[in-house]
Amino acid sequence: MGSGLAEVAAKAGYHVVLRSRTQAAADASLAGVAKGLAKQVEKEKITPGDREAILGRITATDHLGRLAECDLIIESVVEDLAVKKALFTELEQIAKPSAILATNTSTLPVIEMAMATQRPAQVCGIHFFNPAPAMKLVEVVRPLTASDDTIKTAMLFAQSCDKDAVEVKDRAGFIVNALLFPYLNNAVRLWEQGTASIEDIDTAMKGGCNFPMGPFALLDLVGLDTSLAILDALYTEFRDPNYAAVPTLRRMVAAGHLGRKTRRGFLAY
Ligand SMILES: NC(=O)c1ccc[n+]([C@@H]2O[C@H](COP(=O)([O-])OP(=O)(O)OC[C@H]3O[C@@H](n4cnc5c(N)ncnc54)[C@H](O)[C@@H]3O)[C@@H](O)[C@H]2O)c1
Repeated sequence: MGSGLAEVAAKAGYHVVLRSRTQAAADASLAGVAKGLAKQVEKEKITPGDREAILGRITATDHLGRLAECDLIIESVVEDLAVKKALFTELEQIAKPSAILATNTSTLPVIEMAMATQRPAQVCGIHFFNPAPAMKLVEVVRPLTASDDTIKTAMLFAQSCDKDAVEVKDRAGFIVNALLFPYLNNAVRLWEQGTASIEDIDTAMKGGCNFPMGPFALLDLVGLDTSLAILDALYTEFRDPNYAAVPTLRRMVAAGHLGRKTRRGFLAY
């Protein structure tokens, strides 16, 4: 998601600092953006000049201190609350006092990240969808502590990136994942029960509901580890059995079959 966010913001004209824990990972993310932009040039969606200009606005670094120059920092690290809280505490030390600190979390409580800083009024969720350059929606998440200015700036930022922005309260899953994940979880359950094959369930939901992809292709795209983390966060919050991750999903994550990113999930890549 991190490289997708960098592409979206740089395309909108912002100067972007793309930070990863290692320079090699940051460079690989930037190379991913460059490759994606090259495809867009091939399809004549952007010009070669646009590509160069967009790439010229992105600086890839492993140095957290480079984020000191940013007005808005969006974290998109692994979906693990302890990791995210620790990162927000670090960002608090580095970011300029006026900066807004945002999270791209899919489900975790934004309030917990806000309270890990000394500026909870300037913390919110800015939740992009996958792949960020292609998906039109952004959920702007308002924790109890966020100021109106913070939310307004986040909404304007998302709109300036040519996204449809919706505002939502800080509840696990926000709008989209609260509705989507019971469906994805129940698709795996249907397959576990032997009702139909993975391929036929995907075909059915594409043809029967006009969805662009079936539930298994979508789980593999999201990543099975991220999907499991989302379901666990939803279940922790609501205790609804529809959110209780089916055993197969947990076993596949334990086996390291995480979907597209490991070339093996419910489908092979
Ligand atoms: N996958 C999706 O469809 C999707 C959609 C919207 C939002 N998100 C959210 O985006 C975030 C990232 O998800 P992803 O799918 O890109 O996951 P991913 O597993 O592809 O990437 C996570 C990245 O975080 C890095 N990381 C782990 N621990 C870190 C730390 N302590 N400090 C810095 N970096 C660290 C990893 O090296 C990895 O590069 C999550 O919060 C997720 O909920 C994901």
